[in-house]
Amino acid sequence: MGAAPKDDFAELAHKVIELCVQERQTVPSQPIVSIIPAQNERDIGNIAKPSQVPASIEATLSHAEKIFGYRVRMDHPRFFGFIPSPASDLSWLGEILNSAYNTHAGSWYQSSGPSAVEKNLLSWLARDVIGYPETAGGCFVSGGSMANLSALMVARDQKLSFEERTKAVAYTSDQTHSSLAKGLGILGFHHTQIRKVPCDDKMRISTTLLRSAIEEDKASGKIPFLIVGNAGTTNTGTVDPFPELAAIAKEENLWLHADGAYGASALLCKSRRSILNGIELCDSLSWDAHKWLFQTYGCGMVLVQNRKNLTSSFGTTAEYTQDAAETAESLPNFWNYGPELTRPARAMKLWFSFQLLGLDAIDDSINHGFELAEIAQSSLERLPDWEIVSSAQMGIICFRYKPSGIPGASLDDLNTKISQKAIEQNLAAPLTTRLKGVLVLRICSIHPGLSGEEMVAIIDGLDQIAQSLLPSVNGTTGVV
Ligand SMILES: Cc1ncc(COP(=O)(O)O)c(C=O)c1O
Repeated sequence: MGAAPKDDFAELAHKVIELCVQERQTVPSQPIVSIIPAQNERDIGNIAKPSQVPASIEATLSHAEKIFGYRVRMDHPRFFGFIPSPASDLSWLGEILNSAYNTHAGSWYQSSGPSAVEKNLLSWLARDVIGYPETAGGCFVSGGSMANLSALMVARDQKLSFEERTKAVAYTSDQTHSSLAKGLGILGFHHTQIRKVPCDDKMRISTTLLRSAIEEDKASGKIPFLIVGNAGTTNTGTVDPFPELAAIAKEENLWLHADGAYGASALLCKSRRSILNGIELCDSLSWDAHKWLFQTYGCGMVLVQNRKNLTSSFGTTAEYTQDAAETAESLPNFWNYGPELTRPARAMKLWFSFQLLGLDAIDDSINHGFELAEIAQSSLERLPDWEIVSSAQMGIICFRYKPSGIPGASLDDLNTKISQKAIEQNLAAPLTTRLKGVLVLRICSIHPGLSGEEMVAIIDGLDQIAQSLLPSVNGTTGVV
């Protein structure tokens, strides 16, 4: 494929960047959720076909705009579903810089500059921020799922012989993210080898039930090898009791992994970091910078107390890479620290944001997420008929509209409708989840671009929607 002539490239680049800048600046005024209606799907399908001859930049950009127009704007300040993506403009610029240099960050030979940044950034996070020992280290990966998978592989290799694998058991809570079960599946474990331990009324893993599950499994000849603790569950932001989990792991000689894909960022917020006390006792930790560290997608980390455990699981050699072989542990080849060989220099965009934003601003932005959920809670508490099902923690709150005299199934329908109407009106996008058997509205509010006043107005708006829907609740059939 031929390269564009230089002048054309510059013009093309300016046009693309111009569109992107305009797009980023207008996100707050755009629809939060925009899904292709079934009857229009074919329009996009037609554009998707490759063109036999070069298309014009104007036509291609306009098609791109149309295609990207249909999406959930996860980076919209009023998108509260799943884990939103409050990616900062600086992270986006860091991403551009990264693709421009297009570094192969697999080995020191190929990327000694970016690898030195990756090594130092990870060492700083591991030792100064988490509190891990000198031996600690880690690796940047594409996200939380890959970080969890990587840690699980290390846990398996450190705690089990090959022959023991079929008898092994891993313990999670019933609130643990699905990527852990997926990771264990990829590693060859059967789903019956995962014990989902029930939670207490605060949605934290019950350590009493965990202890008895371990005893029961040992008594029946199984081999417990791993406990996964949650450092901020996706549903409610709950943090499991790490000091207690660490004590159990030590007594039983189990690997303790913390899934901090979402919540580990609280470690960079001075006034909130105590919520994660004990996390330094975990053997490994997942941490997503594309969640609460304001990065564009594809930026996660796996961190471990002993970096040698990563190399013993992921270390690799091949004849054709011999010129790039690792010459000293202090000059790491990151392809020996995680699952990927060819990998972008993901640390660089995080470094770029850290440099330009400064840690104080990051601390403030994380704290703001905590505060937004707390503001939502105090606004809801002032209104009649709203029930807080899980209090604000880690920027997440779950609640429902619950006027008296409405049967349970109708309440579920009513709250689903409240979410749908709020999205239809472009007020905000609180999606739904289920907690303790009931359907609830869930707000995950980590966008620095949303003010406390706006959050108060959103809660008022939800209340108005709820009241407007009430007359249509059919008490006899239970249909809204
Ligand atoms: C707690 C938790 N762990 C893991 C993941 C998976 O991360 P990713 O989507 O980056 O693979 C998520 C995603 O939301 C999460 O919330």
